[in-house]
Amino acid sequence: MHMHKLEKIWMTFGVSMLIVFLIVLGVGAFALGAQTPGDHAHGQHRQVVDPETVEQTAPFNELGLKKIGENEYDAYMLAFAFGYGPEKMEIPAGATVHFHITSKDVVHGFQIPGTNVNMMVVPGEVNHLTYKFTKAGEYLVLCNEYCGTAHEVMQTRIIVS
Ligand code: CUA
Repeated sequence: MHMHKLEKIWMTFGVSMLIVFLIVLGVGAFALGAQTPGDHAHGQHRQVVDPETVEQTAPFNELGLKKIGENEYDAYMLAFAFGYGPEKMEIPAGATVHFHITSKDVVHGFQIPGTNVNMMVVPGEVNHLTYKFTKAGEYLVLCNEYCGTAHEVMQTRIIVS
C-alpha cells in the first residue's frame, strides 16, 4: 500500500514533467515556424522586374558600369538567348563590382570561371553578387544553365587591366 502510493506520486510527477516538456517543445516549434522564411535568405532582398519591359526600365535601360566609389562599380546586366548585355566591360585591377543581373527570357547562368562568381539569372527577378577583381586579365562570363540551342556560345567578357 505504502509503496503503491509513492509510485503514484512519482507517476503523477513524471506525467506532469512530460506535459511541461511537450508544451515547451510545442511553443518552440511554433516560434520557429512563425519566422518568415525564404525572402531574406542570404541577406539578399528580392527585387522584381517585368521581363517584357526590362530594357526600357531603369536601371536596365542603360546596361554596363556605373562608378559608385573609389574603384567600385555597379554593373547592370541583362541575360538573353543567347548572350549578355553589355558585350564587354573594362575595369581597373582591384575594382569591386556589384553585379545586378536579370533575364529577359528564360533562366540563364552567370559564371566567371576561376572565381567564385556563380549565380542563376531568372526572368522577373534581379540577382546580385559582389566580386573584387584583384588580378588583371580577361575574364570570361559563361552561362551554366541550359537555355537553348546556342547555350554553349552564350558569353561575355570583363577586361581587368
Ligand atoms: Cu543562357 Cu545557357
